[in-house]
Amino acid sequence: MRGLLTLKSLSQQEIMDIIELAIRFKKGWTINFPGKKMVNLFYENSTRTQYSFQMAMINLGITPLSFNLASSSVAKGETLYDTVRTFESLGVDGIVIRHSQDVYYRDLESIKVPIFNGGDGSSDHPTQTLLDLMTIYEEFGYFEGLKVALVGDISHSRVAHGNAEVMKRLGMDVYVSGPSQFADQTAKFIELDDAVEKCDIINLLRVQFERHQEEMQITKEEYHERYGLTVARVANMKPKAIIMHPAPINRGIEIASEVAECSKSRIYKQMENGVYIRMAVITMALEGRL
Ligand code: CP
Repeated sequence: MRGLLTLKSLSQQEIMDIIELAIRFKKGWTINFPGKKMVNLFYENSTRTQYSFQMAMINLGITPLSFNLASSSVAKGETLYDTVRTFESLGVDGIVIRHSQDVYYRDLESIKVPIFNGGDGSSDHPTQTLLDLMTIYEEFGYFEGLKVALVGDISHSRVAHGNAEVMKRLGMDVYVSGPSQFADQTAKFIELDDAVEKCDIINLLRVQFERHQEEMQITKEEYHERYGLTVARVANMKPKAIIMHPAPINRGIEIASEVAECSKSRIYKQMENGVYIRMAVITMALEGRL
């Protein structure tokens, strides 16, 4: 299949090629694809991924088609495959999909048009991982040996699962932290207070209330006290360490409101980098390199 479905199938060099192209776009390099059209099919809510893909298309001279899930024939029971096949027949040049089903793209193997995974279930979110890596690379200039803690609702997080796989491959020392209710085997465990002292990157994750089958075992206030990045914890971070979060953020739960915008936070830089990463992956796909 063409496009970008998961980073597991890309080499370290291919991942670096995408990041380096995104950095070129950020420095002002441009390319245009006149006459091309793309569509965003979002079966789950999104602000950053959906609209930064749209911004990337506009920056590249590509016309984005609007798709409204509620008023589309999905409401009549049309399958994902039939909707995607329809847009392929209409003549789009690329399709961005976010869907609640893990590895939904297995059902789309016969589709020829490039598909960009905007997040599948709790499995993967490859463009988020790429924009996170770009933000780290801009900060430190390398990956090998950096210590990162993925903190929070690990088991429901496609960002945690996608980031951990690639970060380990790039030689980073990956830890997870947070409540045992949300733990899985993604990486070795570290207590949050140890993580803030040792790690170069604290990569917070949203508590994904909408995916929980059962109530959290603690209150939101207790969560913040035990597992949240408080102002007091930030004071214990290494001088050059940074804070990341894919957002949306739950202020006062996994992150103190003032921490989100403190000098160590790279949350808004991550969002900015998301546009350039999405410009890079669209460009490479339209040039036949993805
Ligand atoms: N980080 C991220 O995927 O945000 P959205 O859900 O708003 O796209």
